[in-house]
Parts: sequence; structure tokens; C-alpha cells
Amino acid sequence: MRRILVIGIGAGNPDYLTVQAIDALNRVDVFFIPDKGEEKSALRHLREEILARFIDKRAYETVGVDIPRRRAAGDDYRGSVDEWHAALTANYGNLFERHLTGDKVGGFLVWGDPMLYDSTLLLMERLDVEVEVIPGITAVQALAARHGIALNRIGEPVLLTTGRKAMLGLPDDMDSVILLDGEQAFAHVPGDYDIFWGAYLGTKEEILVSGRLADVKDEIVDKRAKARAANGWIMDTYLLRRRT
Ligand SMILES: C[S@@+](CC[C@H](N)C(=O)[O-])C[C@H]1O[C@@H](n2cnc3c(N)ncnc32)[C@H](O)[C@@H]1O
Repeated sequence: MRRILVIGIGAGNPDYLTVQAIDALNRVDVFFIPDKGEEKSALRHLREEILARFIDKRAYETVGVDIPRRRAAGDDYRGSVDEWHAALTANYGNLFERHLTGDKVGGFLVWGDPMLYDSTLLLMERLDVEVEVIPGITAVQALAARHGIALNRIGEPVLLTTGRKAMLGLPDDMDSVILLDGEQAFAHVPGDYDIFWGAYLGTKEEILVSGRLADVKDEIVDKRAKARAANGWIMDTYLLRRRT
């Protein structure tokens, strides 16, 4: 059976790579590198830096993978994702056939960790391959570390969710971490919160803002818009901690 290493590379800083990830990089013959639209040049740059810096005297091949655009979800979000995953799976099946000849090992460099809002493992489940997962530092860990905070309060749960879900309402009995927030949900959620916000965590463009949401909301909206315009893309994550 073909062997695929799914390697978490951390969310932005090449220094986030673990020793286990470096070892795994040096076992891969062919890296499959998805091209994902707007952020692609920044992400590609990080991946190239990681390969050049951590692979030691070993020949490897990289194969770019065009990611088809997902059709607009309308009211069928799951249906559109499922259709998109089927197309991606077929594409990967063909690429593995072509590039993983003999006993060549394939590899994916997954931003952050593969267990958090990433499709790679779901796609590999649909294929007849043996998968080994190497964990990485997620954006959530990077956020907590850069603000110097613990994510949870003593004995309390924390919800990880998306901007889309946050717009529908957040639970009032736990704190929440929001990822994938195209809608800037923090500017709309009702309630009294402290926010710990981070954009481009681990990179030289990193921006951090924290404080009472009502006081810093406009500052974040403004910094976010300016940074997005300057860089052409943005990735941000934040913890909303209820004020009691
Ligand atoms: C598709 S998810 C992937 C998460 C990733 N697998 C992880 O472990 O962090 C992408 C979202 O993660 C968050 N994110 C990833 N990297 C980030 C970074 N360097 N700074 C801020 N947020 C980041 C953003 O919310 C972004 O929209």
C-alpha cells in the first residue's frame, strides 16, 4: 500500500517544526503542494524555506497541485464541500498513480496541525493509502503563546469554531476561539468579552491586539483591513473570553 506522511509544519514560523517533523521530511520522496489562491505565494515561500532548510542531502520531488475552486455553498454547505472533496480525491488518486511509483513515499506539509480545520486527512481516508500523521503547532497554540495566556480558565471548556458559526451565536457558558473568520464575527457578537487577537502569527507581519472587546474592536477592524490591503491576504485567530 502507498505510504503518505501528513506533516504538521506549524502555523507560520519555520522554527515551529518539531524534531519528529524534521525526521519525517527526510523520509519523503515526493511532496504534494496544493496551490490555494490568494495566500499562495506567502505559503509557498514558507514551504520552500522548510524544505530547503530541513532536508539534509536527500533528493526529493515536489508536485504542485491545482486546487479547484469550491462552488458557492448557497444553503448546502456540506453538499458543496463533499462534491469538492470528491474532485480533489480523484485528482490525488491520479497524482499518486503517476508520481508514487515503486516504494516512493508521499508527503503533505500541512499548515499548523492536520487535526484542525484541514481536509488532508479526510481526503486521504477516501484513498487506499497508509497514512502517518506528524503533529504541528496550531494557530491556536501560537495565539496563546504570543499573548502569554492559558487558553482555558481553571476547569472550564473552550469552544473552537469558525467565524461563520460564531455569526449564528456563541454559547454563553464557555469561552470561544474563532478561526476562518471572513466575516469579522468579533465585531458583531453581542456580550461583554475580552479578546486576544492575532494575525499572521509566527511571521514577520504578525499583529497582536488584546483588551476589552468593546474598547479594541474598532482598532482590530482597522488594523485588519490595512494589513489585508497591504499583504493581499490575512489569517487571523482570536480567543473571546467572557468577562464575569
Ligand atoms: C484552514 S484553517 C487551518 C488551521 C491549521 N490547520 C492550524 O492548525 O492552525 C486556517 C485558519 O487558521 C487560522 N490561522 C492559521 N495560521 C494562522 C496564523 N499564522 N495566524 C493567525 N491565524 C492563523 C486562521 O483563522 C485561518 O483562517
